[in-house]
Amino acid sequence: MFIVVGVTGGIAAYKTVHLVRLLVTAGHEVHVIPTEDALRFVGLTTWEAISRHPVTTSVHEDVAEVRHVALGRRADLVIVAPATAHTLASMAAGLASDLLGTTLLATSAPVVVAPAMHSGMWAHPATRANVATLRSRGVHVVGPDDGALTGGDSGPGRMSEPETIVAAALAVVPARSDLTGLEVAVSAGGTREPIDPVRFVGNRSSGRQGAALAAAAADRGADVTLVAAHVDDGVLAEVSRHPRVRIRRAGTVDELAAAMAEVAGVADVVVMAAAVSDYRAAEVSERKLSKEDAGGDEVTLRLVRTPDIVAGLADRRRPGQTVVAFAAETEADPDALVDRALRKAARKGVDLLVANRVGWTAGFGSSENAVVIVSGAGDVLARAEGGKREVADSVWDAVLSARLQR
Ligand SMILES: Cc1cc2nc3c(=O)[nH]c(=O)nc-3n(C[C@H](O)[C@H](O)[C@H](O)COP(=O)(O)O)c2cc1C
Repeated sequence: MFIVVGVTGGIAAYKTVHLVRLLVTAGHEVHVIPTEDALRFVGLTTWEAISRHPVTTSVHEDVAEVRHVALGRRADLVIVAPATAHTLASMAAGLASDLLGTTLLATSAPVVVAPAMHSGMWAHPATRANVATLRSRGVHVVGPDDGALTGGDSGPGRMSEPETIVAAALAVVPARSDLTGLEVAVSAGGTREPIDPVRFVGNRSSGRQGAALAAAAADRGADVTLVAAHVDDGVLAEVSRHPRVRIRRAGTVDELAAAMAEVAGVADVVVMAAAVSDYRAAEVSERKLSKEDAGGDEVTLRLVRTPDIVAGLADRRRPGQTVVAFAAETEADPDALVDRALRKAARKGVDLLVANRVGWTAGFGSSENAVVIVSGAGDVLARAEGGKREVADSVWDAVLSARLQR
């Protein structure tokens, strides 16, 4: 999802750093819009680093992109946390004196506010009236909680915890249920082929794109088995909380092939998003290879091909099953990348192939992705760019339209 997080001038802004992190880790594309006062509490650098997008408070930057309305128009969800008494008043009055104000007026997405202020400010009739006005316009209000407040007082006014705000906010977005009834198998992460008891041939895949595919499918109603090779801990923890996602672990290519063959036996859609090693050591040493044993300045490691899991799955696909492969390419030229993708889709016999460019800074490990989706029949179906969750939703859209056209 494309989520805008507005941050306003209260101490609780520091908790919103964690809130943004939770959303980014879950694969959402997050754009932070602080007020000028918010930046006195947490600086621009933190918001840019944590959201991985440029941040500004002003309507006068990136004017050519019409930023003062563009973010609001693109948003699927807007969260304001913390929401100060001043910002609640501005929202109720419809003021548009900064980027957050214009965005809130321009958006048609659900808006969730998490007020935070001293109990006296929260209880004031002006604030009560402003909150009532916002509620009557459909704004969702989360909290505030009762507890210790800045300055030593306590009472209602504490911003709710980031986890609570995130759960409440995601719950108000109208759910898509277009994958309901489908059994889906997704692989994610990088395989590791042993060389000796402590070393392996692996890759830098974090598993984020596969986890985002699993979460997106489950959110849209599918029952999902995620076959996880080596996936970053935070990424796996996040997706494993989803009630419709089952996790299976697989370390090596053979383990992944066996797990995928089993789950594909009952799946309507199979998506191979794992980064699978093409080669493995011809011999695995029982003992740790050491400089002493090698006895020279050079060692040669002989590698042999691993089985092609995707081609095998496509070969054995059940009637009506859709098989999707991912291809990570270092090809920089966009047309050449598409050519490679089309050739690969045909060679592997898959229904769809999602090609993305990887490199030292692109693809693996990043929260963003840019892909082209081609069909095994030789058509370029779609291009998608943005957060891995957004890309995941585009892949599922392509899967659904491919299934409809059969
Ligand atoms: C240390 C400190 C803490 C503050 N905490 C809050 C707060 O929690 N809630 C609030 O409504 N205002 C708080 N304020 C006041 C706001 O920062 C002030 O009203 C500001 O104009 C809000 O602007 P904004 O809503 O555009 O960010 C605080 C001010 C200071 C100096």
